Amino acid sequence: MSSPDANYFQDVLNEPVSNAEAALRPHHFDDFTGQRKTIERLKIMVGAAKRRNDPLSHILLSGPPGLGKTTLALILGAEMGKNVRITSGPVIEKAGDLAGQLTNLEEGDILFIDEIHRLSKTVEEYLYSAMEDFHIDIMIDQGPNARSVRLGLQKFTLVGATTRSGLLTAPLRSRFTLQTRLDYYNKADLITIVLRTCELLEVEIEPDGAAEIAGRARGTPRIVNNLVSFVRDFSEERGFGKITKESAQQALELLEIDAHGLDEMDKRILRVMAENYGGGPVGISTIAIAVGEEAETIGEVHEPFLIQEGFLKRTAQGRMLADKGYAVIGIKPNRPNDQQGRLFEE
Ligand SMILES: Nc1ncnc2c1ncn2[C@@H]1O[C@H](COP(=O)(O)OP(=O)(O)O)[C@@H](O)[C@H]1O
Ligand SMILES: [Mg+2]
Repeated sequence: MSSPDANYFQDVLNEPVSNAEAALRPHHFDDFTGQRKTIERLKIMVGAAKRRNDPLSHILLSGPPGLGKTTLALILGAEMGKNVRITSGPVIEKAGDLAGQLTNLEEGDILFIDEIHRLSKTVEEYLYSAMEDFHIDIMIDQGPNARSVRLGLQKFTLVGATTRSGLLTAPLRSRFTLQTRLDYYNKADLITIVLRTCELLEVEIEPDGAAEIAGRARGTPRIVNNLVSFVRDFSEERGFGKITKESAQQALELLEIDAHGLDEMDKRILRVMAENYGGGPVGISTIAIAVGEEAETIGEVHEPFLIQEGFLKRTAQGRMLADKGYAVIGIKPNRPNDQQGRLFEE
């Protein structure tokens, strides 16, 4: 599979990338909205590497899903004029898998390892020498014939992506020259992305409609794109003709996405905390069981947004529901005294 300007291979994908998603991906820094600090850092590295005619140094991108990590890896390839090979942590099971990937790279090529925090310990250790000295020692044969063979590698660039930078080991993390974190997008940037998506899809939209979608997209471009697609369908089916504020509101209501962009699971988390745990503190694994969702998903997808928007607070004792969290689910804080939460300490 190839995109218009990044000649990349998609060996493995941890998330299905539809043609629609690929079509909406920005291909250069210039059509990438937001994340200004990260973009500035990356532009400096790309500019310097190109001037010196050197491969790019290793880069770690972290942040919640859907904010543009994969997109940026592909942009780096396009800006450098190099290939990007895509793989992901859980897929590289053995050192041999990694060796296969690495030996296929040409000088300056980018190996993109998504979910890099999920690499096995053994594979991770092989990666150290590959990143640092551009060679990899692999064991061949077993028993008395076992010997290690050194494979030289071209000077490649590792771009790692993770939703959980805290889970990366210190030795691995320290081998990245740049570690940069993507944040949720602000409303103005989201509006720009809504309008860009509509233009690419040739969808007519009123400014109020764009603001409505942007305000409910949980700060996330991938969600913007999904919402635009649904709101467009809704607007056509219900005879609005184009996306207006009203059509967007009705469509999003049908999706049960509220004015803050909270979805059913977000609200279920807040409600469980209020109703079952007196607003906390309560541990994430307890919440996970109560709402029937993986603790990992809650920690990566739901919690960061709820915290950033001030619905939840993270304390040493666990998660606490903030007043804003109570307000959004329409429940009054029941705090007979400030000690109440302690009953639920874990
Ligand atoms: N800054 C941006 N501007 C416009 N669209 C973006 C931007 N960042 C991400 N997107 C869109 O969001 C989708 C998801 O981005 P992706 O890079 O796959 O996120 P991640 O890898 O962090 O989960 C992409 O298909 C792209 O269309
Ligand atoms: Mg990705």
